[in-house]
Amino acid sequence: MNNSYNELICSAKKGKWLKREDIARLLECSTVENQVELLSAAYEVKIQEVGKLVQLRGLIELSNCCRCDCFYCGIRRSNLKNHRFTLSVKEIVEAAVRARDFGYGSVVLQSGERQDEDFVVNVIGESLRKIGELPNAPSVTLSCGEQSEETYRYWKEQGAKRYLLRIESSNPDIFHQIHPEEQSFTNRLTALQRLRNVDYQVGTGVMIGLPGQTIEDLAGDIDFFREMNVDMIGMGPYLSQADTPMGKAYPNTPESIKKRLNLSLRMIAVTRLVLRDVNIASTTALQAIDPLHGRERGLLAGANVLMPNVGDISHRGDYQLYDNKPDIDENGAELREKLTQSLLAIGEIPNFGVSGDPPHYYRHHR
Ligand code: 5AD
Repeated sequence: MNNSYNELICSAKKGKWLKREDIARLLECSTVENQVELLSAAYEVKIQEVGKLVQLRGLIELSNCCRCDCFYCGIRRSNLKNHRFTLSVKEIVEAAVRARDFGYGSVVLQSGERQDEDFVVNVIGESLRKIGELPNAPSVTLSCGEQSEETYRYWKEQGAKRYLLRIESSNPDIFHQIHPEEQSFTNRLTALQRLRNVDYQVGTGVMIGLPGQTIEDLAGDIDFFREMNVDMIGMGPYLSQADTPMGKAYPNTPESIKKRLNLSLRMIAVTRLVLRDVNIASTTALQAIDPLHGRERGLLAGANVLMPNVGDISHRGDYQLYDNKPDIDENGAELREKLTQSLLAIGEIPNFGVSGDPPHYYRHHR
């Protein structure tokens, strides 16, 4: 064991302020022993801050229509192979009922980005209202991209409580390499600030293992989460999607994927050590890399949130942000059983029937 690495982990565990270089050193973690040490330290801090409870959010992918053209994403507007769909309000509410009945106290409504009034009012606004009227209504997180402050406020008034908007990379150069010119880093930052102004529980995140991304960039991402004082983090490995410009230029290889899996686990661990009492998701992209144990490994590295898909399986094939997205042909009921068993097997406890707020929000924003 490398002594100075060990010392660094000890001070991180105690919650000492880490400089960006220290964060990078933790992430770099050159040996297997160091990685084991890092992940177990993060797991300890997770238990101390948020316990062994796994917060569950039923994920409803409600539309793959998108005005954006992100170079990495399978539902980018230029991908003509994609069959576009938008669930009706009735279908969205049915999915929320399914989630509630499974015991998921919370749902995430996720979609491509649309800013037209029909979407803002008649799809999202109406769904929020109807879900809010359900007996024992699940709490709602939205993940529908950049919007005006007015729209964010309106959705909050209609009952949304949390919002996820990834920065994708906190390095503006990388951000601009992976998005067309019309999408700017500044606009993304402004949108995050608007969410804060409207008093959502705010989540952000990045993709890990992007072309050209260094350990220093990833350390910068964790520093960004800390500076933005966010409540929730969702991040996962970048995975290629064959119909996208980036997927064509940088196809996955078994070695690149394995590296990204380990790097993602270390990112989760270091994020837990630095941010402490936030909610961190163990994302589907992790499971895409390691179908048997990906999500569990995320939890053991410090994550505390899972987002099982409760949408109708008929649309899953059209929501392929990246290739080999898992759980395509499983319905929600089977998924729930599988999930419960695999959580209990690793000593984690599914926290059914509650909203599962990040403690950070009440300590720092209330
Ligand atoms: N690989 C990994 N994650 C991706 N996302 C989109 N495309 C990909 C990809 N090819 C992620 C983005 C987005 C979230 C909904 O999905 O980070 O914010």
